[in-house]
Amino acid sequence: MKPRKFTRRQVLTATSAGILGSMLNFSFRPFGIADPAQIKKLAINGGDKVHPGAWPSWPEWDQSAEQGIIEMFRSGRWWRGNGEHVAEFEKKYAALMGAKRCLATASGTTALLTALKVAGVDAGDEVLVSPYTFIASYNVIFAHRALPVFVDSDPETFLLNPKKIEERITERTTAIVPVHIYGLPVDMDSVNKIAKSHNLMVVEDACQAWLAEYRGKRAGTLGDLGCFSFQNSKHLPAGEGGAIISNNEEMIDRCHAYHNCGRPYGSMKTGPGNMYNGLNYRMQQSQALILMSQMKRIEKDNDVRLSNALYLDKKLKAIPGIIPYRAAEGATRAVYHLYPFRYIKEEFNNVPREKFIQALNAEGIPCSTGYGKQNKDGLIEEQLTSKGYKRLFSEARLDQWREENVLPGNDQLCDQAVTFYQSILLGTKTDMDDIVNAITKIYENRASL
Ligand SMILES: Cc1ncc(COP(=O)(O)O)c(C=O)c1O
Repeated sequence: MKPRKFTRRQVLTATSAGILGSMLNFSFRPFGIADPAQIKKLAINGGDKVHPGAWPSWPEWDQSAEQGIIEMFRSGRWWRGNGEHVAEFEKKYAALMGAKRCLATASGTTALLTALKVAGVDAGDEVLVSPYTFIASYNVIFAHRALPVFVDSDPETFLLNPKKIEERITERTTAIVPVHIYGLPVDMDSVNKIAKSHNLMVVEDACQAWLAEYRGKRAGTLGDLGCFSFQNSKHLPAGEGGAIISNNEEMIDRCHAYHNCGRPYGSMKTGPGNMYNGLNYRMQQSQALILMSQMKRIEKDNDVRLSNALYLDKKLKAIPGIIPYRAAEGATRAVYHLYPFRYIKEEFNNVPREKFIQALNAEGIPCSTGYGKQNKDGLIEEQLTSKGYKRLFSEARLDQWREENVLPGNDQLCDQAVTFYQSILLGTKTDMDDIVNAITKIYENRASL
């Protein structure tokens, strides 16, 4: 009998299909062919890795930006006050997003701080916010001396559950901050409908959602104001940076003033002396130049991420205990700042999620848990028990807040989520197959963990 030769990948694919036994039905293993027993054994238990190679790195520098950046530095015009690049970036970003206007800021946090101020959030107000998010989404509410009120998550979508919004509204609620976490669009029709009927402002936290779409419109253009981050890990990175977009020009004028020490802008009335409150949250010229060079690749990169994410969805959902996220009603394009799925340990012989993650990392597939149960974080009590909050809110309201701070959907999500970082999704289809094969391998060997 002629010996059959198998590549590592064929062996793994066969393992996935449960037909390894029949493939190994030969008596002679030619020199140079990997040992199937080593391949089948989990890497965490000393077997071979499914993916021994590297993954795409991030961020990627574009050398063609260097000349312009050096010229700007040599000119000494480093701040937006005497340079043209930040304004040029604002025009380009607004056009890319399909928004009338954009204001660039120093960071996503300062974009949110500015947007909340202009949305009218004031000391003693309440603001509804997604709990499954980066800490900045609600720290900015505390910074305005308002009370963040968490709306429970839908574990299937990873997003705030619109059905849980109305029950959290009080007479002090002034705004909703839906977070398009991981670039997965929130059901904005539902959010906007509720906001309209209760006269609330909507500030989208689109800090991870560059070019995500809801009913064909870009995230960030769907509420009153939309905020973005350009921190180093983001799809559009500049080290630090942020932006606010809107179709409401008067609001963007007010954002401009607030982020620039209160100097009136555009449609705003001027007067003697300082008329408006404001801070310095300005973007620098160098950030804008880096962003304009990075903008050249974002659409192509997002296409690759999307195609790989859809491929993973299709393959991973066939594995028991692996549940890819479900798109919210009306979401037409996710951009996957992280690729998320839920791990159901009961299907994996009760192997804890942390052990599953260690096993997957050992196979050469970097992954981690998602966000923790931040509605229980110590910083919240630090605020609620502070002198200022005791003055701003009655004891009864703060006690009620604590009693209602029960989020079963979010707890479930925090316990089950597993995520891949965005640059993993810039890999090849073969890389995606490695992810699928590694998870399948862990599933088939779950008893050995
Ligand atoms: C969802 C979300 N909101 C807000 C921010 C804050 O942005 P920045 O880090 O640019 O201040 C981030 C940044 O990671 C984020 O992911």
